[in-house]
Order: sequence, then structure tokens, then C-alpha cells
Amino acid sequence: GIYIVTQDGTRLIDGMSSWWASVHGYNHPKLNAAIIKQLGKMAHVMFGGLTHQPAIDLGKKLLSIVPVGLDAIFYADSGSIAVEVALKMALQYQIAAKQAQKCQFASTHSGYYGDTWHAMSVCDPINGMHSLYGKQLPMQHFVPAPSLGFERELTQNERDGLINFFAKDSDKLAGFIIEPIIQGAGGMRFYSPQYLQLLRQLCDEHDVVLIADEIATGFGRSGKLFACEHAGISPDIMTIGKALTGGYMTFAATLCTRTIADTISQSDYPTLMHGPTFMGNPLACAVACASIDLILSYDIEARTANMQKIMEQQLEPAALLDGVAEVRCLGAVAVIQLKTSVDMPVFQSLLIDNGIWVRPFGKLVYIMPPFVITDDELVTLCQALLKVVSIYLMQKG
Ligand SMILES: Cc1ncc(COP(=O)(O)O)c(C=O)c1O
Repeated sequence: GIYIVTQDGTRLIDGMSSWWASVHGYNHPKLNAAIIKQLGKMAHVMFGGLTHQPAIDLGKKLLSIVPVGLDAIFYADSGSIAVEVALKMALQYQIAAKQAQKCQFASTHSGYYGDTWHAMSVCDPINGMHSLYGKQLPMQHFVPAPSLGFERELTQNERDGLINFFAKDSDKLAGFIIEPIIQGAGGMRFYSPQYLQLLRQLCDEHDVVLIADEIATGFGRSGKLFACEHAGISPDIMTIGKALTGGYMTFAATLCTRTIADTISQSDYPTLMHGPTFMGNPLACAVACASIDLILSYDIEARTANMQKIMEQQLEPAALLDGVAEVRCLGAVAVIQLKTSVDMPVFQSLLIDNGIWVRPFGKLVYIMPPFVITDDELVTLCQALLKVVSIYLMQKG
């Protein structure tokens, strides 16, 4: 269900889906059954030279739902690793295409792509971990973050900025990585689909691989099955994870176009140079198949549109509170941005006292509840959150 029970028996409504992953709630009978059934057959086997039915079934399922043109899959162990694989894939593609000078990456400010070395290097250069790890991190290229606002038109200034950046630097770029429509851990920011459309056009014009990181947004969270659909674009490489297994197992995947897969496989190094021990784990594949079946059974666009409507209605009064900078919702994500950073110990105990599990960071108080939450439970979650924010701001003066 959608409850997290603490040691003393307190039941908390989950507002976080365990960081975007547990979209079907916890202890789901269909996910439990899928993993137990697979466990009875085989928990693991190496994925080099061998394949197995759950991996084949998952591959077929994924290819039938991802944006058009994505045609090959690499199974990875976690979101960060899927991003590492995406960067390696883009680089290996450029080398195979005899464009080895195209060896750097670009991204926008306010991005987050994971905690491994190269994933960190494309995260926001100011709020990410660049200052901690300093010069040891590979140097990448950054453009300003897309302006806030899903429904905003792109300004001429923004267009020119991106166009000029590509004109100047694209000869060095293997790829451009971006979280489509929702920038998550880098700021919970929603931006215009027009930005993605322009980026797609520029990547095509300059032979730069467009990498869409759908690890957080994938499987319905943004209001579409994949956030790229808001812009009607397909990336060259796409990463998925988190909700892929409904939060049951650490697992992710990197998908790419036939062109990228074939260019690599017809080159001097005909395989992608990445082969983790637990690649394509059968338990993870089996539970991912069951998770995707559930998502497809939900009428996800209608369900998330309804969640958005409820969250907008319920959280709107927060915008009137002194101390609140903005309230914004998109799909099944709602954000109350405060004017100052949250005092976590104080805020957290208020949350627990009011029966909800939410985990703010910095100035951002946000929820992305499981898709199985009922309307009444969602109203209860939002009302409790509104109460907590009001009490907290009053106490802080
Ligand atoms: C957009 C995005 N990419 C990559 C990652 C890294 O995924 P993981 O934590 O599974 O390594 C995250 C995690 O929050 C994410 O939100």
C-alpha cells in the first residue's frame, strides 16, 4: 500500500514513492508474485553469451512503449550506471563514426544525473558536487538552465543562447544530456517542451547525440508515459530506472537508436565496452515486466492529470503564505518552493506528527506520491502538507 510504518507503529502516507521509484506502493501482490515466480526458476545467470526469457520479455515490452526510433537496449544496474553507459555509448558512437574529436559533453545548469564520476561531471556545476571533487572531475560544457514554466513560450534570447552555444562548441561535443521537461534533484523545475524541440533540432544539425535522462520522469510521472512525448521528440539515447521495477530492485536501462547500435557494432570495437556482473538480472527483469504491465493498466495520462488537479487545488493556498516563493505542479509532481532552506529536524518532526512522509531538500518541499494513491488519500496528504508548511513558517516567524 501507500503507507510507511515506523518502528512505533505510526502510519505515514508516502509522498515520495521512495524517490520516484515505488509508484505502485509497497508490498504489491503482483510485483511480489512476479519476483517469487522468477526466484523459483533462476535468481541470476551471467548475461554474457547467454540470455534468458525475462530479459527477452522485458526488451520486447520496453521497445513497444518507448519513443519511436529507440531500438536497442543495454541493461544496467542503477540509474547512475545507465547514465555512465549512455555517455560511453555516445562517445563510442562518435569514435566509430570517425569523429573522435567529438569527445566532450554538454548539459544545462540545474541538472542531476547521478553520483558516479562522469554522471557527476554533467550535474549542475554550482549546486552539484563539482566544488567538492574539484578539478578531478572531467570538464564539461554548461548552458543556462531552461527558464521555469511548462507552458511558457521560449524567448528569442533563449533560442539565440542555445543556437550560439552549438555554433561555437558542437565540434567538440559527443552528446548533450538533459532531463526532459522536469529537472528533478537539481531543483524540481518544469520547463517548456519548446526547449526540447529546439535542442533536438540543434543536435541533429550538429551531429551531437541527444541523451534524454528519463530515470525520474519515465513511466508516467510527468503526465505522459515518457516526458519526451510532451515535446513530440525522440532522443538518440534514453536512460530509464527507478519506477522501471516499481522500486523493487536496483535496475536501469540505456536505450539507443538502430543507427547508434549499428555504428558501434560495425566498428573496430564492435561491442559496447561495459559488462557489469549483474547485468540483466532475471529477478529485476521479471519484476520490471510486471511493473510495466501495471503502469499500462492504469490509463496513466488520465490518472496523473487527476492527481495534478487535486494537488493544484489542495496546495494552491500555500502560495499565499509568507515564506512561500512558488507552488507548481506537473503530472504527479507538486512543489512548494520556500524562500529559505528548510530546517530539516523541525520540519521532519512536524511531518511525522501529521502522518505523512515527505523529504524536502534546500528550499524545496515536494511530493510525488505513488500512482495507486486514492483521491481521498491524496487530499489527506496535501492537506497535512499544507498544515505542516503553515505551522513551520509561523514558528519560524
Ligand atoms: C534524472 C536522474 N538521473 C539519474 C539518477 C541516478 O539514479 P540512481 O540513484 O539510481 O543511481 C537520478 C536519481 O535521482 C535521477 O533523478
